[in-house]
Amino acid sequence: MDLFIDTAVYKEIEEIYSWGILKGVTTNPSLIYQSNENFESLIQKIARLVKGPVSAEVSSDTSEKMILQGRKLASLDENIVIKLPMTEEGLKATSVLTKENIQVNVTLIFSPTQALLASQAGAQYVSPFIGRIDDISYDGSDLIKNIKKIFVQDHAPTKIIAASVRHPKHVLDAATNGADIATIPYKVFKQMLKHPLTDSGLEGFNKDWNKYLKGDTK
Ligand code: E4P
Repeated sequence: MDLFIDTAVYKEIEEIYSWGILKGVTTNPSLIYQSNENFESLIQKIARLVKGPVSAEVSSDTSEKMILQGRKLASLDENIVIKLPMTEEGLKATSVLTKENIQVNVTLIFSPTQALLASQAGAQYVSPFIGRIDDISYDGSDLIKNIKKIFVQDHAPTKIIAASVRHPKHVLDAATNGADIATIPYKVFKQMLKHPLTDSGLEGFNKDWNKYLKGDTK
């Protein structure tokens, strides 16, 4: 399973990118708002750094406007993926843009049948929001599992991006239930890295190594 970061904060992307594990980035209008930067130049800067898929979401309400905005965003860099909402207008725009070889990520997916529609419209990616499903006492892992079952049966090329990830267990659930990608917030990447036994183990090794350097014997 590939790992994307879900943020619009450039410094966070730079840091996680430096670990050598990052394959792409997803953003949304709320994340862009929090970053307080110019949308188009930020997206372009991110795409140039990561050199992998960078999802940029349209903010229009009709398919015509979505298509125009999508074309403009896609022209900023070959790695920009247009994020469209799971609505009737979003589906229409998906089918037009994908026929123009513009990559589309259909977002706000909360059911397997929504994912099926998006895939049939030509989307390269679908983003089921597992955290928001869990928030309302349903099971985000089940959603991933069912979408995967449909895509495998259909031989659909559409990739599943597990989104709305809130903690490392969500990343594990995404990986074991068949997501192709998990898009992970900065804070969760940091949590994934940490283990108390790694810290105490390292402390012990360092202590003994220093004794060894000083010539202390057992
Ligand atoms: C996905 O692409 C979205 O940006 C994101 O994962 C939404 O997550 P949230 O439910 O934490 O807002």
